[in-house]
Amino acid sequence: MTSLELFEVRKSYGAVAVLGGINLSVAAGSRTAIVGPSGSGKTTLLRIIAGFEAPDSGRVTVGEQLLADGPEMVPAHRRGIGFVPQDGALFPHLTVEGNVGFGRARNAPQRAERIAELMDMVALDTSMLARWPHELSGGQQQRIALARALAQRPRLMLLDEPFSALDTGLRASTRKAVAQLLGKAGITTILVTHDQSEALSFADQVAVMREGQLVQCGHPLELYLRPRDEAIAGFLGESIVLPAQLAGGWADCALGRIAVDDSQREGSAQIMLRPEQLQVAQVPADITEHGTDPAACYGAVLDTDFGGAVSVLTVRLLRRIGAAISQPAGVETRNAPLLLHSAGLRAPPVGALVRITVAGQAHVFSD
Ligand SMILES: Nc1ncnc2c1ncn2[C@@H]1O[C@H](COP(=O)(O)OP(=O)(O)OP(=O)(O)O)[C@@H](O)[C@H]1O
Ligand SMILES: [Mg+2]
Repeated sequence: MTSLELFEVRKSYGAVAVLGGINLSVAAGSRTAIVGPSGSGKTTLLRIIAGFEAPDSGRVTVGEQLLADGPEMVPAHRRGIGFVPQDGALFPHLTVEGNVGFGRARNAPQRAERIAELMDMVALDTSMLARWPHELSGGQQQRIALARALAQRPRLMLLDEPFSALDTGLRASTRKAVAQLLGKAGITTILVTHDQSEALSFADQVAVMREGQLVQCGHPLELYLRPRDEAIAGFLGESIVLPAQLAGGWADCALGRIAVDDSQREGSAQIMLRPEQLQVAQVPADITEHGTDPAACYGAVLDTDFGGAVSVLTVRLLRRIGAAISQPAGVETRNAPLLLHSAGLRAPPVGALVRITVAGQAHVFSD
């Protein structure tokens, strides 16, 4: 089984350093998702693994085989690596059938069955086989490119945003079908995506790139709950970041006193919560200090943004309702309102008074 290792891979175009010493290990048969801003070097990294570019220095190995050692490299066609590029890049002079069946003799046994099976997998009808690439939509071209790469039964599959042109439902079902097929065949896979939930659901390992560096790599849940900094947090979903004072595993912040995942840190720090950790419940507008819980946190809804299943509420935290509610001494209150989630159909209206409850621990950023 294949396991991919990248060791100190560097690449510059002219004076511009695009990859600055990448180390990455991908276990045999596993799935890795790479996320990161546009221009951070994701495609360049895939092209080096595929063999379309040589690194300036550093090594690429698959299993026991050294594929690149600086500019010395095994050519792309001898690597057994499937690559679905960002734009599909179908052969324009071949029909859909020619593209999917590329590299297979016309009279090869079960050629037609195999092509039909691949078309089914990417949810396209075999009536499309006679069409030319320019007669397909962007999403259809991507799916044909995927079928063409799968047809080669590669040992390693590189997917550069292969689902980006598909609508939500088709995207989820195609992703699932592809993940199942790759898993069953034991094909090690690397997926580049801008879709955070796609990265988290598809992968065993998520790697975040920034300016040519891999800034954090780990299990999806670990990265989601314990990102190293605010930018990484933002790549994997929405986050609420607050200044806090830490002591003994607790943080005093604008939301009151909440548990944190670092019991050693003391003093000022930035803490992070995911929106789903904050529950919002409407309380009567005429509540007084006697009806409120002195340890609880209250806010006023300034705006609601209906988004289907989830509505986003803009909530300004209230320092006090009557005399009972106040922030702990010495805690900086962020004046910016918080963006909180609520079930779309049960969202409190604008002007409502809400109580905010925090579930689980907040994460403390390491720097
Ligand atoms: N052949 C090339 N010559 C010069 N510069 C290049 C070349 N290919 C890529 N670059 C530059 O390298 C950087 C990284 O490009 P790359 O395509 O790897 O980014 P990416 O992370 O895939 O971005 P996106 O998310 O937009 O696809 C960019 O600044 C790009 O302009
Ligand atoms: Mg790219």
